[in-house]
Amino acid sequence: MDRLKEKIAIVTGGANGIGRAIAELFAQEGAWVLVVDIEREAGEAAAAAIARNGGRAEFCYADVSAPEDAARAVRRAADRNGRVDILCNNAAYLGDFHAVVESTAEEWEKCIRVAVMGTHHFTKEVLPFMMAQKSGSIVNVVSIQAMVGCMTSVAYTATKAALLGYTLSAAYDYGPHNIRINSLCPGPIQTRISPQPGEPHYKWQCDQTMLGRVGYPKEVAYAALFLASDEASYVTGATLPVDGGWTAK
Ligand SMILES: NC(=O)c1ccc[n+]([C@@H]2O[C@H](COP(=O)([O-])OP(=O)(O)OC[C@H]3O[C@@H](n4cnc5c(N)ncnc54)[C@H](O)[C@@H]3O)[C@@H](O)[C@H]2O)c1
Repeated sequence: MDRLKEKIAIVTGGANGIGRAIAELFAQEGAWVLVVDIEREAGEAAAAAIARNGGRAEFCYADVSAPEDAARAVRRAADRNGRVDILCNNAAYLGDFHAVVESTAEEWEKCIRVAVMGTHHFTKEVLPFMMAQKSGSIVNVVSIQAMVGCMTSVAYTATKAALLGYTLSAAYDYGPHNIRINSLCPGPIQTRISPQPGEPHYKWQCDQTMLGRVGYPKEVAYAALFLASDEASYVTGATLPVDGGWTAK
C-alpha cells in the first residue's frame, strides 16, 4: 500500500489503457497523481475513480506535444509541495500506421511530436525539480517494437526506438543527480487499440509470446511501479520488456 508513499507523480496519457492502470496503481501505493491527457472526460473519470478508491489524483488537460502545456502541467504537480518525484511518459500517437511507402509526412510528424517530443518536453520540465531534490524516477513507456520488427508501423517503430536512445542519454547525464531514467517495453497489451479475441492478429500476437497470451494493463503497471519506487534505487538506463517472453523467444 505504501510503496510510493507521499510521492508526487505525473502520468501522461493517464486517461486510458496502460496509463490509467499506472495512475491507479501509483495512487493505490500512496502517490498523489496528476493524470495528464487530451481526453477530458476520460481523464476526469480516471481521477474520480482513483478518488473513489481512496487515492489522490487530479486530471490536467495537456497536450504533451505542446511545450507550454508540459510546463503548466509540471508546475501544477509541483504546486503540491515543491516536489516532482515520478514522471511516467506514456502518451503516444496511436493512429493508423503504415509501411514505408504508404506512410505520410503527417503520420511521421504526429508520431514524433507526441511520443518523442512529448517525452522530451515533460522530462525537461521535471528535471530541475528532481535535481534540486537530488532524486527522481522517470519511466518511459516504449514498446517491444523498439526491439523487434513488426508489420506496417515504420514511423511508430522509429519513434519508439528513438525513446530507447533518449532514455540512455538522459540516464547518463542525470545519474550523478540521483535521477533514474528507464524504458519499459510492453508487448501486446489488451487496450482499446488492440486486436480483439477471435481476430487473426490477436492469435498471431499470442503466438509470438512464450506465455501464449496477451498481457493486461495492470501487468505493465506493476513493472512501472517497481521502476518508479525506491526498490529500483540502483536501476537506471535499463530496458525492461513486459511482453510474455516475446523478445526472448
Ligand atoms: N497496447 C499495447 O499493446 C502497447 C504495446 C506496446 C506499447 N504500448 C504503449 O503504451 C502506451 C499507452 O498505450 P495504450 O495501449 O494504453 O493506448 P490508449 O489509447 O489506451 O492510451 C493512450 C492515451 O494517451 C493519450 N494521448 C494521446 N495523445 C496525447 C497527447 N498528445 N497528449 C496527452 N495525451 C495523449 C490518449 O488520449 C490516451 O488516453 C503508448 O505509449 C503505447 O505506444 C502499448
